This record gives sequence, C-alpha cells and structure tokens, in this order.
Amino acid sequence: ASVPVLTIDGPSGSGKGTISRIVAARLGWHYLDSGALYRAVGIAAGWSDIDLSDASALVRCTFDTHVEFRDDGAGEPRVIVNGTDATDELRTETAGAAASAIAAIPEVRAALKERQRAFRQPPGLVADGRDMGTVIFPDAAHKVFLTASAEERAERRYKQLKAKGVSVTIDGLLREILARDARDASRAVAPLRPASDAVPIDTTGLPIEAVVARVLDIVSRPA
Ligand code: C5P
Repeated sequence: ASVPVLTIDGPSGSGKGTISRIVAARLGWHYLDSGALYRAVGIAAGWSDIDLSDASALVRCTFDTHVEFRDDGAGEPRVIVNGTDATDELRTETAGAAASAIAAIPEVRAALKERQRAFRQPPGLVADGRDMGTVIFPDAAHKVFLTASAEERAERRYKQLKAKGVSVTIDGLLREILARDARDASRAVAPLRPASDAVPIDTTGLPIEAVVARVLDIVSRPA
C-alpha cells in the first residue's frame, strides 16, 4: 500500500502550521511545510536582487534554491536556505508576499512539485499548504481544509509577530492578509480552494487542542 498522507490546506493564519506540526508529532509522521519552500525561493530571489516580475529569473532561482529542514526536536524546525539559517526571515510578511507573488508562476510550481512529493516517506506524511489535497497529493487518504475569519487570522499573526518583537498593527496585517487571500484564490494555477473530498474545519474561536482532536479523529476513520 502507498504511504498515507494527510493534507491540511487553508489560507494564511488559519492555524495550518501549528495544527500540522502537532498532528505530525502525535502520529509520528513526517511534515511538509510547503509554504516554506515558496517563501525560501522568495527570499533567495531577494538575496540575488531578482525582480519579482522577472518570471524566467525566478524559475532559474527556484531550481538553484536549496532548502533543508533541520528538526532539532525543540519546537519549529530550522529552515536552511542555500546554507544560511533563514528561519526568522522566512516568517516575515515580506517573505510571505514574495512567496505569494512567485507562487503564481506555473513553472515555479511545476519545479517544486517533485520536491514536495519526495516528502512522502513511511510511516506517513502531514502536508501543509494551499494545493496539497488538490494538486500535489490528490490521492491522499485524508484531507482537511482549515479556515478562520480574516479578523481572527490577523489577530493570530499579530500575537505571533509581537511575541517576536516585530512592530505591526492589526489593521495593516488584516489588509495584507485580505490582499494575499485574494491573490491566492484568484490566480490561474492551483488557486486556493478546498479539494472536493476535503473536510472543512472553521477554527474561529476554537482552541488548538480542539482542532487537533478533530483532525486526529478524521485520520482515524477508514479512508
Ligand atoms: O503557508 P504560507 O503562508 O507559508 O505560504 C506563503 C505563500 O506561498 C502563500 O501565500 C501562497 O501564495 C504560497 N503557497 C502556495 N502553495 C502552497 C503553499 C504556499 O502557493 N502549497
């Protein structure tokens, strides 16, 4: 039988990252943070002064960008981009916006396809992103689509960034989130949308542990 996959898709701030990491740890499965790949290409492009409108240079940059996830067992894995620890830079809104811009280029998405599928290793994989259930792992046995109100997602990001000492406003974050949602949902390739066989979970007002319990329940059901 093929290696089981749980896909967790949804917009930014829906809690995908947090939920996916916890669920992967509970199941003892591998974890793919596909957004980190797009963010890594985005910041690598920035390091090389590549213009976000130069599609062919961005495609070359995608092939040239080496990304390594280093899990030291203590919280979030470190993300090493071309040999440099880029974990903190990767989480900035600048990196998110760059990722969202380059993610609209079909050749960039194609270049990252096999790299993402290579994460499917025994005993299983939790894959977090926008098109995990629709494009990358359409045959996944379990699919979840997480949502939350834009206001709650802005508030979550605000708390995360504030804890890191980054100065932002909720209003500014809300505007960025709505702009990124609109771009991710309206692009021609792999737009953000739930797979027809995904189970939707609205996490607005739900504690993390409650969402984790619902996702684990979905995985425990026969596919
Ligand atoms: O999930 P995260 O916020 O890290 O993703 C950053 C950006 O990368 C998203 O706004 C989206 O444009 C893009 N992305 C994507 N497909 C994925 C994961 C992320 O297009 N599977």
